[in-house]
Order: sequence, then structure tokens, then C-alpha cells
Amino acid sequence: MESLEIKRSSVDPARPFTMDDLEAVIALRLHAITTEPNAFGRSAHLEKQRTMEEWKAQYFSAIGEHPSTVLDVVMNEGRAVGMLGAVPDEGENVWKLIRMYVLPEFRGKGLADDLFQAVETAVRNAGGTKLILDVNSGHPAAVGLYEKHGMVRTAVNHLQRSDGSEFDKCRYEKSLV
Ligand SMILES: CC(C)(COP(=O)(O)OP(=O)(O)OC[C@H]1O[C@@H](n2cnc3c(N)ncnc32)[C@H](O)[C@@H]1OP(=O)(O)O)[C@@H](O)C(=O)NCCC(=O)NCCS
Repeated sequence: MESLEIKRSSVDPARPFTMDDLEAVIALRLHAITTEPNAFGRSAHLEKQRTMEEWKAQYFSAIGEHPSTVLDVVMNEGRAVGMLGAVPDEGENVWKLIRMYVLPEFRGKGLADDLFQAVETAVRNAGGTKLILDVNSGHPAAVGLYEKHGMVRTAVNHLQRSDGSEFDKCRYEKSLV
């Protein structure tokens, strides 16, 4: 049984996305929004309809010497197994963390820790002075991760989905100065 376990040392460290990763990252993103529909504010149905050109246009901003968005990935044998992005948000030098996801069989090995540190560093290098994010309180692993990395809960919105179920959307923030 032990030989089936994925060792952390066999997984690549987090690194910036390149266009060579595009198909692997699309597969990971579709897996994420299909298996965790309540963790992301996007419809899996709509993202599945995207053309390759639309995917390219979306991820293009994260590549190059001075990218306008951040996307870091963890790869394992050609497969994207974890990702975290950040995009400029309203307010000067405020960046919002998005798309945090690690494949279930790769969880608990520090990959999200690695991704968080890599993205925080990239945002600092881009001149960001504040990180923000929204997380559904029904995702304790994500909440634990963000709090471990110094993000502080600043607001809670009690919301209702179209199916009538309720949840708390929590805003977290971290000053980088
Ligand atoms: C949240 C998620 C990215 C964590 O990925 P991971 O690679 O397993 O996390 P790590 O192994 O790097 O753990 C880092 C920290 O996260 C927290 N954490 C991870 N799993 C946890 C769990 N099940 N319960 C509570 N805290 C947890 C801990 O603080 C942990 O640090 P520690 O090991 O020193 O205690 C992963 O569970 C996931 O993809 N969840 C579904 C998607 C999601 O909720 N995305 C967030 C949308 S806002």
C-alpha cells in the first residue's frame, strides 16, 4: 500500500504558469469547479463551453516578464495538481486571490502552503500591498490555510443560493506592508 502514496518530494515546487501548461491547467480548473461547485463563484457549465482561444485569452495575462495577473501551478508528471491565482482588485495595489485548488489525492502535503507563498511573493514583486479573498465558511481546509498564512477575517455575509441552501461568505485580508 505504501508504494501507492504520492510523496511530496516527487511533486514539483510551485512555479509560474506558462502557456505549455495550458491544457493541464484547464483540466485542473474544470475538475475543481465540477467537484467543488460551492467553492468557486463560477458556473462549471459556462466554463466547459469555453473555446481554447477564450482559455488562452484568460490565462495570457499571467505570462511574460511583467504579467498583469499571477498564476502559480504545481505540476506532477505533466499533470497540473494544484493552482492559485491573484488578480488586481478595486483599490490601490490590492490583489485578490482566486482559483485555489489542490487535487484531492495530493492534499495534506503542503502544496497549498507552497502555492500561497509563491503567489504572495509574486504579488509583492508586482507592487501589491494588500491581499484579499472571499471564502465560503463551509470549506474549513481553505479557511485553515488562509488563517495560517496571516489572513484575517474582516466581514461575513450570510447568503442564500438559488436552491435555498444558506452559507456564509467570508472576506479575508492581509496587509503586505
Ligand atoms: C484548501 C486546499 C487548497 C488545501 O490544500 P492542501 O495542499 O491540502 O493544503 P496543505 O497541505 O498545503 O496545508 C496547508 C494548511 O492548510 C490548512 N489545512 C489543510 N487541510 C486542512 C483541513 N482538512 N482542515 C483544516 N485545515 C487544513 C492547515 O492550516 C495546513 O497547515 P498545517 O498542515 O501546518 O496544519 C484543498 O483542500 C482544496 O483544494 N480544497 C478544495 C478547494 C477550495 O476549497 N478552494 C478554496 C476556494 S476559496
